[in-house]
Amino acid sequence: MGDHSHGSPNDPGTVAKAGQGSVESFQDPGLPPHRPRLADVDPRAAKRAERQVSLLFVVSILGTALFFVAYFVVGRTDSISGIRLQNTLLGLGTAFAMLGIGVGIVHWAKTLMPDHEITEMRHEIRPEADRQEAEAMIGDILEETGIKRRPLIRNSLIAAVALAPIPAIFMFRDLDRTGATASEIVDRLRYTMWDKDTKLVRDPSGTPIKASDVQIGSAFHVIPEGLDDAEDPLNEKAKAVVLLMRLDPKEMHISPERETWHHDGIVAYSKICTHVGCPVALYEQQTHHLLCPCHQSTFDLTQECKVIFGPAGHALPQLPITVDSEGYLIAQSDFHEPVGPSYWERG
Ligand code: FES
Repeated sequence: MGDHSHGSPNDPGTVAKAGQGSVESFQDPGLPPHRPRLADVDPRAAKRAERQVSLLFVVSILGTALFFVAYFVVGRTDSISGIRLQNTLLGLGTAFAMLGIGVGIVHWAKTLMPDHEITEMRHEIRPEADRQEAEAMIGDILEETGIKRRPLIRNSLIAAVALAPIPAIFMFRDLDRTGATASEIVDRLRYTMWDKDTKLVRDPSGTPIKASDVQIGSAFHVIPEGLDDAEDPLNEKAKAVVLLMRLDPKEMHISPERETWHHDGIVAYSKICTHVGCPVALYEQQTHHLLCPCHQSTFDLTQECKVIFGPAGHALPQLPITVDSEGYLIAQSDFHEPVGPSYWERG
């Protein structure tokens, strides 16, 4: 056996060559000399860095303020452009609130916190002694951050960290402000605008679709006719959007109760992914798979949109369709099951 002692950064060490059984000595180069940063030697640079760190925390506070302006002031509109503006500002506010804290802490660590390197030798585990050592270390870390000596950083950090989570409270509260029970919420999601004889129209043009327009391999994004006249068109659209495609009927595996739900291979399925509700947007003509871009759930159109890959827990609901006397595609009824994510009670 050779000498297997491990060198410290400052002492020469030895290393065994793998597979050769021999031992070669080499000179441990040790750590490079510590170079003081500007803020270590120049109090004015340290003060400047302190102000910069504090400014970044203030950016976080302003980001949180921007979120609230977007939420309470800009949000008082139902127009699409107003909603887009609100979403943009909500996103920017949240981003600044988080980035301000993150970048501020990194800048603080890089410019003001001690940057000398420490080597700690490995030793046996000693529960009580190690606990005390860890406590002392936490105390040292707090001391070294300078948080007690730098009230500007401390106060702005406390304000930024205290304010940043508040937007999340409002957003979660908004998941449902009506105080509805779970079954009432399910009922809201259970029914869509589709009804007997509702025409299938193109999204967004609103033009009706004839069965003869739908060729094998093509896919249409479809909404119910009259959507614009609904009381809450955005929410209705979010529930009612469907994808329309045509397959060779010979390739379809249809369960007996769905025999009449398609028209000569033309099928309509909810576009809302049953995982967490992203729009299923990609149709692979060759494989007849529908893909959800969010977490790659894949649905097989030939098997009534059964999930064949990914986290979705439920097949896409099918909309029963037929044609009217002029050959336009119409719904036979609403969906026979609730659309959307399957994490809520669907029974
Ligand atoms: S929302 Fe479609 S896979 Fe997650």
